[in-house]
Amino acid sequence: EDNAKRQTKKIKTGTKGNGEMASNGHLCKHMAAADAVIPPDFELPVDAFDIPHCYEGDLGAVIVPEGMIKDRVRRLAKDIHAKIGDNELSLLCVLKGSYKFFTALVDELAYARSSCTQPMTVDFIRCQSYEDTQSTGMIQIIGLSNLQELKGKNVLIVEDIVDSGQTLARLLHTLEELGAQKTWTTTLLSKNVPRKVDVKEDFVAFRIPDKFIVGYGLDYNQKFRDLNHICVMSPKGIEKYRNK
Ligand code: HPA
Ligand code: MG
Repeated sequence: EDNAKRQTKKIKTGTKGNGEMASNGHLCKHMAAADAVIPPDFELPVDAFDIPHCYEGDLGAVIVPEGMIKDRVRRLAKDIHAKIGDNELSLLCVLKGSYKFFTALVDELAYARSSCTQPMTVDFIRCQSYEDTQSTGMIQIIGLSNLQELKGKNVLIVEDIVDSGQTLARLLHTLEELGAQKTWTTTLLSKNVPRKVDVKEDFVAFRIPDKFIVGYGLDYNQKFRDLNHICVMSPKGIEKYRNK
């Protein structure tokens, strides 16, 4: 059973978003959350968008334009706020891939939480598991030095993408060991591939098909992070930037 189906089932059985309590005490019936699923055949022509000259010919299609990401992140921030409420919140950015998603989300959360009495804090961590288009399976966590500060905190892990689930599972385990009080996860993209480990995905911006994608923070051998749309690559681009 794929993730999208599982998630749909979860909503239908009413375990998510069915009349959440808002921080002002009102029950919001309109807050029932739905998934944003990008179908396998959804591809927009690259030439319909303003793509940097340096990446011309390297991309096959746009699958999530920047404007759509912005709209979806706005709603996601509302859903996160409805769930977490007016509590102190530590946001953990998993670099490098989630840098764009993180700043967009922090801005929207700040707006959604503008009447909260408890502050948000931001922390940064770096994980690495990919070379070329394959996961190396070895996950390195870098920049753990000040993570002790997360002891006893409510932590929202902000990831760019979940596919095997290993990086996120490893991070959750690390936070548990550090003694975080409560943990949630949010991911820009959830790829429709079998998980190697079962991991909680609390807030997903987009569910995407099993394609190697770049842009909006995500890289192919460190290139394309600066691209503002989420795209699939062309065979030519994959060859051009392959690690020798
Ligand atoms: N693109 C870039 N980085 C990734 C991907 C992907 O599709 N999956 C996991 N890390
Ligand atoms: Mg990467």
